[in-house]
Amino acid sequence: MTDRYAVFGNPIGHSQSPRIHALFAAQTGQDICYEAILAEPDEFATAVNAFIAEGKGLARGANVTVPFKEEAYRLATRRTSRAEAAGAVNTLSFEAGAIIGDNTDGAGLVRDLKHNLGCDPTGRRILLLGAGGAARGVILPLLLENPAELVIANRTEDTAVRLALEFGRLPGCAVKVKPEGIGFPGLAGRSFDLVINATSAGLSNAVLPTPTSMFAPDCVAYEMVYGRETPFMLQARAAGARVADGLGMLVEQAAESFFLWRGVRPLTAPVLAAMNA
Ligand code: ATR
Repeated sequence: MTDRYAVFGNPIGHSQSPRIHALFAAQTGQDICYEAILAEPDEFATAVNAFIAEGKGLARGANVTVPFKEEAYRLATRRTSRAEAAGAVNTLSFEAGAIIGDNTDGAGLVRDLKHNLGCDPTGRRILLLGAGGAARGVILPLLLENPAELVIANRTEDTAVRLALEFGRLPGCAVKVKPEGIGFPGLAGRSFDLVINATSAGLSNAVLPTPTSMFAPDCVAYEMVYGRETPFMLQARAAGARVADGLGMLVEQAAESFFLWRGVRPLTAPVLAAMNA
Protein backbone atom coordinates (compact mmCIF):
# COMPACT_ATOMS: atom_id res chain seq x y z
CA MET A 1 0.00 0.00 0.00
CA THR A 2 2.73 2.42 -1.03
CA ASP A 3 1.64 6.03 -1.62
CA ARG A 4 2.38 7.24 -5.13
CA TYR A 5 3.82 10.54 -6.34
CA ALA A 6 5.14 11.76 -9.67
CA VAL A 7 6.68 14.74 -11.44
CA PHE A 8 5.08 15.78 -14.73
CA GLY A 9 6.99 17.74 -17.37
CA ASN A 10 8.19 17.83 -20.97
CA PRO A 11 11.05 17.08 -21.27
CA ILE A 12 11.34 15.08 -18.04
CA GLY A 13 14.28 12.71 -18.56
CA HIS A 14 16.70 15.15 -16.91
CA SER A 15 14.55 15.63 -13.80
CA GLN A 16 16.38 15.22 -10.48
CA SER A 17 13.11 15.12 -8.51
CA PRO A 18 12.75 11.29 -8.34
CA ARG A 19 16.27 11.04 -6.90
CA ILE A 20 15.72 13.88 -4.41
CA HIS A 21 12.42 12.45 -3.16
CA ALA A 22 13.88 8.94 -2.92
CA LEU A 23 16.66 10.35 -0.71
CA PHE A 24 14.09 12.23 1.44
CA ALA A 25 11.97 9.07 1.78
CA ALA A 26 14.95 6.93 2.80
CA GLN A 27 16.11 9.54 5.32
CA THR A 28 12.67 9.94 6.97
CA GLY A 29 11.54 6.30 6.68
CA GLN A 30 8.53 7.20 4.53
CA ASP A 31 7.19 4.46 2.26
CA ILE A 32 6.55 6.26 -1.04
CA CYS A 33 7.08 5.68 -4.72
CA TYR A 34 7.97 8.72 -6.90
CA GLU A 35 8.27 8.54 -10.68
CA ALA A 36 8.88 10.90 -13.60
CA ILE A 37 6.09 11.11 -16.18
CA LEU A 38 6.44 12.66 -19.62
CA ALA A 39 3.19 14.40 -20.61
CA GLU A 40 2.52 15.39 -24.20
CA PRO A 41 2.10 19.16 -24.68
CA ASP A 42 -1.71 19.16 -24.79
CA GLU A 43 -2.25 16.18 -22.50
CA PHE A 44 -1.15 17.39 -19.09
CA ALA A 45 -4.60 17.22 -17.44
CA THR A 46 -5.28 13.81 -19.03
CA ALA A 47 -1.95 12.47 -17.74
CA VAL A 48 -2.59 13.71 -14.18
CA ASN A 49 -6.14 12.33 -14.12
CA ALA A 50 -4.88 8.96 -15.43
CA PHE A 51 -2.22 8.90 -12.67
CA ILE A 52 -4.92 9.55 -10.05
CA ALA A 53 -7.27 6.90 -11.51
CA GLU A 54 -4.56 4.24 -11.87
CA GLY A 55 -3.40 4.87 -8.31
CA LYS A 56 -6.74 3.62 -6.96
CA GLY A 57 -6.60 5.95 -3.96
CA LEU A 58 -2.82 5.67 -3.49
CA ALA A 59 -1.91 8.61 -5.78
CA ARG A 60 -1.32 11.38 -3.23
CA GLY A 61 0.39 14.16 -5.10
CA ALA A 62 2.60 15.42 -7.89
CA ASN A 63 5.19 17.98 -8.78
CA VAL A 64 4.85 19.92 -11.99
CA THR A 65 7.68 21.38 -14.03
CA VAL A 66 8.21 23.15 -17.35
CA PRO A 67 6.00 23.77 -19.34
CA PHE A 68 2.94 22.82 -17.27
CA LYS A 69 2.98 25.05 -14.17
CA GLU A 70 0.29 27.40 -15.51
CA GLU A 71 -1.85 24.46 -16.64
CA ALA A 72 -1.48 22.90 -13.19
CA TYR A 73 -2.75 26.20 -11.78
CA ARG A 74 -5.89 25.84 -13.89
CA LEU A 75 -6.30 22.13 -13.10
CA ALA A 76 -6.27 22.69 -9.33
CA THR A 77 -9.72 22.79 -7.75
CA ARG A 78 -8.27 24.77 -4.80
CA ARG A 79 -5.13 26.91 -4.60
CA THR A 80 -3.01 28.34 -1.79
CA SER A 81 -2.42 32.10 -1.65
CA ARG A 82 1.22 31.69 -2.72
CA ALA A 83 0.09 29.70 -5.77
CA GLU A 84 -2.43 32.45 -6.55
CA ALA A 85 0.30 35.10 -6.33
CA ALA A 86 2.69 33.05 -8.46
CA GLY A 87 0.00 32.34 -11.06
CA ALA A 88 1.58 28.90 -11.30
CA VAL A 89 1.52 25.59 -9.43
CA ASN A 90 4.47 23.23 -8.91
CA THR A 91 2.90 20.99 -6.25
CA LEU A 92 -0.41 19.15 -6.40
CA SER A 93 -2.01 17.25 -3.53
CA PHE A 94 -4.82 14.82 -4.25
CA GLU A 95 -7.34 14.73 -1.41
CA ALA A 96 -10.81 13.16 -1.55
CA GLY A 97 -11.70 14.24 -5.07
CA ALA A 98 -10.00 17.64 -4.70
CA ILE A 99 -6.78 18.72 -6.41
CA ILE A 100 -5.00 21.28 -4.25
CA GLY A 101 -2.44 23.48 -6.00
CA ASP A 102 0.51 25.07 -4.21
CA ASN A 103 3.77 26.70 -5.25
CA THR A 104 6.90 25.91 -3.23
CA ASP A 105 9.44 27.53 -5.59
CA GLY A 106 9.64 30.87 -3.77
CA ALA A 107 9.78 29.24 -0.35
CA GLY A 108 12.56 27.00 -1.71
CA LEU A 109 14.58 30.00 -2.86
CA VAL A 110 14.13 31.85 0.44
CA ARG A 111 15.08 28.75 2.44
CA ASP A 112 18.17 28.18 0.30
CA LEU A 113 19.23 31.81 0.76
CA LYS A 114 18.64 31.84 4.52
CA HIS A 115 19.61 28.34 5.64
CA ASN A 116 22.21 27.18 3.13
CA LEU A 117 23.84 30.42 2.01
CA GLY A 118 23.53 32.56 5.15
CA CYS A 119 21.96 35.34 3.10
CA ASP A 120 18.86 36.63 4.85
CA PRO A 121 16.83 38.77 2.39
CA THR A 122 15.54 40.96 5.24
CA GLY A 123 16.86 44.52 4.92
CA ARG A 124 18.78 43.76 1.73
CA ARG A 125 18.59 45.63 -1.55
CA ILE A 126 17.40 42.91 -3.93
CA LEU A 127 17.58 42.93 -7.72
CA LEU A 128 15.51 40.34 -9.57
CA LEU A 129 16.51 39.91 -13.22
CA GLY A 130 13.68 38.70 -15.45
CA ALA A 131 9.91 39.04 -15.40
CA GLY A 132 8.70 35.66 -16.67
CA GLY A 133 7.22 32.72 -14.78
CA ALA A 134 10.37 31.99 -12.75
CA ALA A 135 10.53 35.60 -11.51
CA ARG A 136 6.81 35.81 -10.76
CA GLY A 137 7.00 32.68 -8.59
CA VAL A 138 9.49 34.18 -6.13
CA ILE A 139 8.32 37.80 -5.79
CA LEU A 140 5.79 37.38 -2.97
CA PRO A 141 8.00 35.12 -0.79
CA LEU A 142 10.87 37.64 -1.21
CA LEU A 143 8.63 40.62 -0.36
CA LEU A 144 7.36 38.83 2.75
CA GLU A 145 10.97 38.77 4.03
CA ASN A 146 10.92 42.60 4.17
CA PRO A 147 13.87 43.51 1.97
CA ALA A 148 15.00 47.15 1.91
CA GLU A 149 13.99 47.23 -1.75
CA LEU A 150 13.05 44.88 -4.58
CA VAL A 151 13.82 45.99 -8.12
CA ILE A 152 12.62 43.87 -11.04
CA ALA A 153 14.72 44.49 -14.17
CA ASN A 154 13.84 42.95 -17.50
CA ARG A 155 14.92 43.09 -21.15
CA THR A 156 11.34 44.05 -22.00
CA GLU A 157 10.82 46.94 -19.60
CA ASP A 158 7.00 46.96 -19.84
CA THR A 159 6.73 43.43 -18.46
CA ALA A 160 8.80 44.38 -15.40
CA VAL A 161 6.78 47.55 -14.82
CA ARG A 162 3.48 45.66 -15.02
CA LEU A 163 4.71 42.89 -12.73
CA ALA A 164 5.93 45.41 -10.15
CA LEU A 165 2.60 47.26 -10.23
CA GLU A 166 0.70 44.01 -9.76
CA PHE A 167 2.74 43.03 -6.69
CA GLY A 168 2.57 46.57 -5.35
CA ARG A 169 -1.14 46.29 -4.74
CA LEU A 170 -1.81 42.79 -3.47
CA PRO A 171 -5.09 42.85 -1.55
CA GLY A 172 -4.91 41.98 2.16
CA CYS A 173 -1.21 41.24 2.07
CA ALA A 174 1.23 42.32 4.82
CA VAL A 175 3.93 43.50 2.41
CA LYS A 176 5.72 46.74 3.32
CA VAL A 177 7.90 47.20 0.23
CA LYS A 178 6.53 48.05 -3.19
CA PRO A 179 8.62 46.54 -5.97
CA GLU A 180 9.96 48.74 -8.75
CA GLY A 181 10.02 47.63 -12.39
CA ILE A 182 12.72 48.85 -14.81
CA GLY A 183 14.54 47.96 -18.04
CA PHE A 184 18.23 46.94 -18.00
CA PRO A 185 19.43 50.51 -18.86
CA GLY A 186 17.78 51.66 -15.59
CA LEU A 187 20.41 49.67 -13.66
CA ALA A 188 23.13 52.21 -14.43
CA GLY A 189 24.53 53.69 -11.23
CA ARG A 190 22.60 51.36 -8.92
CA SER A 191 23.92 48.51 -6.78
CA PHE A 192 22.37 45.65 -4.81
CA ASP A 193 23.24 43.23 -1.98
CA LEU A 194 21.46 40.29 -3.59
CA VAL A 195 21.09 39.82 -7.36
CA ILE A 196 18.88 36.93 -8.49
CA ASN A 197 18.91 35.85 -12.11
CA ALA A 198 15.42 34.55 -12.96
CA THR A 199 15.84 34.99 -16.73
CA SER A 200 16.24 31.96 -18.94
CA ALA A 201 19.25 33.59 -20.64
CA GLY A 202 21.70 31.16 -19.00
CA LEU A 203 20.06 28.19 -20.73
CA SER A 204 21.25 29.54 -24.09
CA ASN A 205 24.52 30.96 -22.74
CA ALA A 206 23.26 34.47 -23.54
CA VAL A 207 25.08 37.35 -21.89
CA LEU A 208 22.80 39.83 -20.12
CA PRO A 209 23.46 43.51 -20.93
CA THR A 210 23.69 44.35 -17.22
CA PRO A 211 26.39 46.56 -15.63
CA THR A 212 28.99 44.99 -13.32
CA SER A 213 28.33 47.87 -10.94
CA MET A 214 24.99 46.28 -9.97
CA PHE A 215 26.93 43.94 -7.64
CA ALA A 216 27.56 45.81 -4.38
CA PRO A 217 30.58 44.79 -2.26
CA ASP A 218 29.73 41.49 -0.44
CA CYS A 219 26.92 40.88 -2.92
CA VAL A 220 25.37 37.43 -3.27
CA ALA A 221 24.61 36.52 -6.90
CA TYR A 222 22.02 33.78 -7.30
CA GLU A 223 21.50 31.97 -10.59
CA MET A 224 18.22 30.03 -10.69
CA VAL A 225 19.54 27.75 -13.43
CA TYR A 226 21.67 24.88 -12.11
CA GLY A 227 24.16 22.40 -13.47
CA ARG A 228 26.13 24.84 -15.61
CA GLU A 229 28.28 27.92 -15.26
CA THR A 230 26.23 30.68 -16.91
CA PRO A 231 27.52 34.03 -18.25
CA PHE A 232 25.70 35.68 -15.30
CA MET A 233 27.72 33.58 -12.84
CA LEU A 234 30.96 34.43 -14.66
CA GLN A 235 30.15 38.15 -14.59
CA ALA A 236 29.27 37.95 -10.88
CA ARG A 237 32.47 36.08 -9.99
CA ALA A 238 34.56 38.60 -11.91
CA ALA A 239 32.86 41.37 -9.93
CA GLY A 240 33.80 39.67 -6.65
CA ALA A 241 30.28 38.51 -5.73
CA ARG A 242 29.57 35.29 -3.86
CA VAL A 243 27.88 33.03 -6.42
CA ALA A 244 25.27 30.28 -6.02
CA ASP A 245 23.35 28.26 -8.58
CA GLY A 246 19.77 26.98 -8.34
CA LEU A 247 20.49 23.45 -7.11
CA GLY A 248 19.79 24.48 -3.51
CA MET A 249 16.46 25.99 -4.55
CA LEU A 250 15.58 22.76 -6.37
CA VAL A 251 16.28 20.65 -3.28
CA GLU A 252 14.53 23.11 -0.93
CA GLN A 253 11.35 23.39 -3.03
CA ALA A 254 11.27 19.59 -3.12
CA ALA A 255 11.62 19.45 0.67
CA GLU A 256 8.73 21.89 1.01
CA SER A 257 6.58 19.68 -1.26
CA PHE A 258 7.60 16.58 0.70
CA PHE A 259 6.63 18.34 3.92
CA LEU A 260 3.22 19.30 2.49
CA TRP A 261 2.53 15.73 1.47
CA ARG A 262 4.04 13.77 4.36
CA GLY A 263 4.02 16.21 7.31
CA VAL A 264 7.74 15.51 7.86
CA ARG A 265 10.48 17.99 6.98
CA PRO A 266 13.54 16.18 5.61
CA LEU A 267 17.07 17.44 6.22
CA THR A 268 18.24 19.03 2.99
CA ALA A 269 21.98 19.39 3.66
CA PRO A 270 22.86 15.69 3.13
CA VAL A 271 20.71 15.56 -0.01
CA LEU A 272 22.30 18.72 -1.39
CA ALA A 273 25.73 17.22 -0.66
CA ALA A 274 24.77 13.99 -2.47
CA MET A 275 23.52 15.97 -5.47
CA ASN A 276 26.68 18.05 -5.57
CA ALA A 277 28.93 15.00 -5.37
P1 ATR B 1 10.49 31.38 -17.29
O1 ATR B 1 9.21 30.65 -16.98
O2 ATR B 1 11.72 30.51 -17.26
O3 ATR B 1 10.65 32.61 -16.48
P2 ATR B 1 9.62 32.93 -19.54
O4 ATR B 1 8.29 33.18 -18.90
O5 ATR B 1 9.69 32.66 -21.00
O6 ATR B 1 10.38 31.74 -18.84
O7 ATR B 1 10.56 34.20 -19.21
C1 ATR B 1 11.88 34.24 -19.61
C2 ATR B 1 12.53 35.47 -18.98
O8 ATR B 1 13.92 35.50 -19.35
C3 ATR B 1 11.95 36.79 -19.44
O9 ATR B 1 12.08 37.75 -18.43
C4 ATR B 1 12.86 37.12 -20.64
O10 ATR B 1 12.88 38.50 -20.97
P3 ATR B 1 11.74 39.14 -21.93
O11 ATR B 1 10.53 39.36 -21.08
O12 ATR B 1 12.34 40.39 -22.42
O13 ATR B 1 11.53 38.11 -23.01
C5 ATR B 1 14.17 36.68 -20.08
N1 ATR B 1 15.18 36.36 -21.13
C6 ATR B 1 15.24 35.24 -21.85
N2 ATR B 1 16.31 35.27 -22.68
C7 ATR B 1 16.93 36.45 -22.44
C8 ATR B 1 18.11 37.09 -22.98
N3 ATR B 1 18.84 36.49 -23.91
N4 ATR B 1 18.45 38.30 -22.51
C9 ATR B 1 17.70 38.90 -21.57
N5 ATR B 1 16.58 38.35 -21.03
C10 ATR B 1 16.21 37.15 -21.46
